[in-house]
Amino acid sequence: MRRKLVAGNWKMNGSAESIRGLLQGIREGAPAVAAVELAVFPPFVYLGLVEQQLSGTAVAWGTQNLSEHASGAYTGEIAGPMLQDFHCQYVIVGHSERRTFYGESDQIVARKFAAARKLGIKPILCVGETLEEREKGVTEAVVERQLKAVLDSEGVGAFTDAVIAYEPVWAIGTGKTATSAQAQEVHAFIRRQLAALDSAVAAQTRILYGGSMKAANAGELLAMPDIDGGLIGGASLEAKEFLAIAKAGC
Ligand code: 13P
Repeated sequence: MRRKLVAGNWKMNGSAESIRGLLQGIREGAPAVAAVELAVFPPFVYLGLVEQQLSGTAVAWGTQNLSEHASGAYTGEIAGPMLQDFHCQYVIVGHSERRTFYGESDQIVARKFAAARKLGIKPILCVGETLEEREKGVTEAVVERQLKAVLDSEGVGAFTDAVIAYEPVWAIGTGKTATSAQAQEVHAFIRRQLAALDSAVAAQTRILYGGSMKAANAGELLAMPDIDGGLIGGASLEAKEFLAIAKAGC
């Protein structure tokens, strides 16, 4: 049985004050949604605050990115061993905003995935097509290519301790959610790609949906057989809404 994971990607939002309030709300509400695993992904500079506020709770944390390098002259970058200092359990790699705005190729994403795993930090690998790609009918080819870069370099066994997030780019921050049927179709496709290599790994790998997920549509999405949770942007910035999404997955 795959335990659902509801993860909040805060992106570049929040302040020390707003994050304290958000974490307090999540801490208070977490026991009521204990059937679902919760995780939050703050901006790097608030990691210490998040660790302090969430240590000893059931809520996990991680970051939205990491460097592919372990240390060195890489101004402005944050390395995996630094995340270990803050006891991060997860790290998001290959988010479409990283791929689009910061030029992260499939190969860079694969190296970041490897860097995280080497340290025992579980990568959440984001994949997903743009609107143009969906309209051209190449959704599966795009997702297959993004996945293959990691499978080729790391092997299917690497997914034993990794998570995949399907985030159609056209649904991110637009209010346009994929229908549960559209999402399920791609999730099932992703699972088939893994199953072709190793059916046991495919059966246990969690595949999250991301893109304008909120309490109002979470129930329908999370009821689909291959949707194992959500990677939530905007709706994760309010404890009540974030917890209501988790509740829908219980
Ligand atoms: P929204 O939930 O704001 O659409 O963002 C989704 C996302 O990109 C999560 O990583």
